[in-house]
Amino acid sequence: MGLKETQAYQFLKFTNLSLKNLGIREAVVPPVSPFKEYPDAKKIKLFIDEFPPTPNFFEILSKRRSKRGYKRAPLSLKEISLLCYSAQGVTGIAGPYLLRTAPSAGALYPIETYLAVNFSSEIEPGIYHLEIRDFSLALLKKGYMGKILSELALGQAFLGGASVIFIWSAVLSRTISKYGSRGLRYIFMDVAHICQNVLLASEALGLKACPVGAFFDEELNKFLELDNGESVIYMATVGK
Ligand SMILES: Cc1cc2nc3c(=O)[nH]c(=O)nc-3n(C[C@H](O)[C@H](O)[C@H](O)COP(=O)(O)O)c2cc1C
Repeated sequence: MGLKETQAYQFLKFTNLSLKNLGIREAVVPPVSPFKEYPDAKKIKLFIDEFPPTPNFFEILSKRRSKRGYKRAPLSLKEISLLCYSAQGVTGIAGPYLLRTAPSAGALYPIETYLAVNFSSEIEPGIYHLEIRDFSLALLKKGYMGKILSELALGQAFLGGASVIFIWSAVLSRTISKYGSRGLRYIFMDVAHICQNVLLASEALGLKACPVGAFFDEELNKFLELDNGESVIYMATVGK
């Protein structure tokens, strides 16, 4: 099979724009709520009192490296708050949009952040959802999930030693309703911006991080009890 026969090539071609083709005709996908929230869950309030001193930004860029050998060390609530802020903290309001630390195509913010807290001095271990509007973590499942998450990440054992694991899903309709299938490109760009913020913030805080793209999608979606329109697309570990 040649490159042109792959789904990847076909997708890129199908979603290309040109002066001759200003977009493909597709069935319209109805828009969905820009926020996912768990109103009945126990919430842990996150906070940013002041930004800590950090190394020079370009030094941070030059030092960033994917690291996997973690010490199972606890993170403080402050460190977790700063990481979540870097991922999806609200930094502005424009009409109905809550603008964030990372950019988003059309300000549609299709990405949801889940956080597995493995080791923290202040938060009990468990799976949490980052609630954007009140900057809090909603507790979804109690307990250390490092082992099961490493199994779901194709057996990559280092996930078990990370202090926290970011899990990013996409609510596809938020972006596809505006951009059609081309929106899928933007969704992956959106999540990469978010992940890079977390990787650089980790380095700034003296922590180490690693992006994770290898995982069993279906089982991970089931583990997080996501419905059909939402799917995990990226993860990252952070630790000491
Ligand atoms: C999209 C993407 C997916 C990745 N998935 C994994 C992964 O599943 N496991 C892993 O150990 N590293 C993963 N990595 C990290 C790469 O192996 C790493 O970035 C690469 O070796 C370059 O090294 P550096 O990040 O230290 O500069 C991923 C990186 C990217 C950008």
